[in-house]
Amino acid sequence: MAVTDEVQLQVKNIYMAFGGVQALMDISLEVKKGEIFSIIGPNGAGKTVLLNCINGLYHPQRGQIYFEGKEISKLKPHHRAEIGISRTFQKIELFKGTSVLDNIRLGRHIHLKSGLISGSIYLGKTAREEIEHRDFIEKEIIDLLEIEHIRDKVVGMLPYGLQKRVELARALALNPKVILLDEPLAGLNLEEVEDMARFILDINEEERWQTTCVLVEHDMGVVMDISHRVMALNFGEKIAEGTPTEIQKNPNVIKAYLGEVEDLYVTRR
Ligand SMILES: Nc1ncnc2c1ncn2[C@@H]1O[C@H](COP(=O)(O)OP(=O)(O)OP(=O)(O)O)[C@@H](O)[C@H]1O
Ligand SMILES: [Mg+2]
Repeated sequence: MAVTDEVQLQVKNIYMAFGGVQALMDISLEVKKGEIFSIIGPNGAGKTVLLNCINGLYHPQRGQIYFEGKEISKLKPHHRAEIGISRTFQKIELFKGTSVLDNIRLGRHIHLKSGLISGSIYLGKTAREEIEHRDFIEKEIIDLLEIEHIRDKVVGMLPYGLQKRVELARALALNPKVILLDEPLAGLNLEEVEDMARFILDINEEERWQTTCVLVEHDMGVVMDISHRVMALNFGEKIAEGTPTEIQKNPNVIKAYLGEVEDLYVTRR
């Protein structure tokens, strides 16, 4: 999807502390519709806390969040999901004892509250349409992420790399406008990383999906490769923002990653 000038998601002067730990200090950012906007930073920099504030799991002590021009700071996570903000988690959050397909359905059910509508003959038109729509989305997701062969498998029995893919499938089941991805590449092998990076690009670029992505990732090769813009956090502070090329040259970023500098220069393609 081409990046537009429209600001889809705006974070304004967010401050969040846990006791004495200042996790986010006056963070602002604007994500444009169509962007892959990445957030990088060393461990404990505040990246996950920031995603938690954006999707409503955390309520920062100060600051506001806007989605498509409307303030959403007070909305609950399921409400934010309903209006189009979906996410994946750093620690996989799936129902390990149930099938891939059920996880995709349950994810949608829990977040949307709209209910898993049973196949009753008394279903009204709207309910039937909802089921058809759901089936359609499920098929599209399964095709996109190439998980047809595991759709009926129990999630807990799958290798980690496939579980990460199911996690993405679950988030996509909400048919989101913006997807927040917390370390989707962590723990994956090289081939799985390449697959996942391609899926993220597909979600962003393909006509059908056109999803704005906010990506938290440590894999600098992929971040620099697929992001339109990158923001760097360190100890709760924003230390840089710009294009991948600008970020790689930024002295603050290089200093924050001292010892890992060469990682910043790895590019995959
Ligand atoms: N619920 C919480 N209660 C107390 N402190 C928290 C909580 N969540 C996060 N923190 C603290 O906030 C800071 C930022 O944490 P965060 O999880 O956002 O880091 P991160 O950038 O995601 O790191 P990583 O790359 O390791 O995932 C850390 O000091 C962390 O200990
Ligand atoms: Mg984190």
